[in-house]
Amino acid sequence: MIKAVRGMNDILPDKTPLWQRLESSARVVLLSYGYEEIRLPILEQTALFERSIGETTDIVEKEMYTFTDRNGDSLSLRPEGTAGAVRAVLQHNLHNQAQRLWYMGPMFRRERPQKGRYRQFYQIGAEAFGMPGPDIDAELIVLTRRLWRLLGLRGLRLEINSLGTATTRAQFRHDLVSYFSASAEKLDEDSRRRIQSNPLRILDSKNPELQELIQGAPTFERYVDQESEQHFRQLREILEHNDIEYDVNPRLVRGLDYYGKTVFEWLTTELGAQGAVCGGGRYDGLVEHFGGEPTPAVGFAIGMDRLIELLRETPLNDMARGGNEPHLYLIVGGAKYYGSALRVAESVREAMPQIRLVTHCGSDSFKSQFKRADKSGARIALLLGEDEISQGLITVKHLRISSGQVTVAQSDLAAYLQKEFASL
Ligand code: HAM
Repeated sequence: MIKAVRGMNDILPDKTPLWQRLESSARVVLLSYGYEEIRLPILEQTALFERSIGETTDIVEKEMYTFTDRNGDSLSLRPEGTAGAVRAVLQHNLHNQAQRLWYMGPMFRRERPQKGRYRQFYQIGAEAFGMPGPDIDAELIVLTRRLWRLLGLRGLRLEINSLGTATTRAQFRHDLVSYFSASAEKLDEDSRRRIQSNPLRILDSKNPELQELIQGAPTFERYVDQESEQHFRQLREILEHNDIEYDVNPRLVRGLDYYGKTVFEWLTTELGAQGAVCGGGRYDGLVEHFGGEPTPAVGFAIGMDRLIELLRETPLNDMARGGNEPHLYLIVGGAKYYGSALRVAESVREAMPQIRLVTHCGSDSFKSQFKRADKSGARIALLLGEDEISQGLITVKHLRISSGQVTVAQSDLAAYLQKEFASL
């Protein structure tokens, strides 16, 4: 049997209502802050990711699905959305004015799969271009808080940090290289390899044996330039003014090279090692790096798979879980009535576009059709048998309450159902 690729999951019908609830809630929230949807290709030139995420990051070094196209181009499945958004904004000249954009869709990273970490996973991302101040950083954070609230999620914790500008980071980097080089023999292989290429990432290492050494490393606070410091202070003031609790984590560097100044993550303790449900930050240099006018930019991406795991635990979801159940189940007395059955079903759908009506297909006994109707979760069964057809009638039977059954004229059925489902 051919199975799905490792780390790439089917999302089955019992889970899709939850996904749909997350998607529609995110759309409502993003629109309410004036963000507009952009749809981006899933394949891009490999160089786009190399030059934005960074050649020495884990993502580019070992996690991208890269292949050579028939014409020799190197293409990659997108591991994230920011690079593509920047490319699109530049290509279509959208960066001359303030832009608030969002996207949703699959991303691909060849990581070791485990709970909350997959090779195909889904993100909802927002990217805001052309706004340099901490006000927009705060807006993005407030927006995510609104989404958590709408979804009934509690217990997420916000961490923020400032990475300063490229110049201050260079000085910091230089000192980190010296510090870690002096103790190279204490580092693991991964971190030793990073001393020159990406020493900031050593600070991110989860290896317990390195924690003491990492604790002793220079912290970025001492290097931060005045402008970044002011930006960060103002951001904190705005957050406090809006009752957003946060922790400043000086070790929060994030795994992508394009960040400067603000970075943030929303974390949960409920998903084991994969605690980040949303990550983002400022990338003021990236548009210029790709040849555009200097354009400040900031954004975030939410890991939808992780959020879904959390949502499964929240009580609100009983409703979402039942979201696919039909309202009506139509039972048909035999092959001769298929034509009439479909016509009746269509007339109901015409009158009630929101109704979910499942027609039983196949000539099964009434008994087994009723069993199916019951199992489907439908509230009402409709029955079309010989007697009904001969008199232009249809039988309506409640399945969840014991109110017997009534027979109504087929021509009155839609009106009758409209009363029964007044709330639809
Ligand atoms: P990121 O931190 O790499 O940032 O990913 C954002 C979120 O995607 C993570 O917090 C996590 O919830 C989810 N995620 C990442 N990898 C996986 C995986 N293998 N399986 C499941 N979920 C995963 C970015 O991607 C940036 N583009 C965010 C951004 C937008 N920064 C500025 N604008």
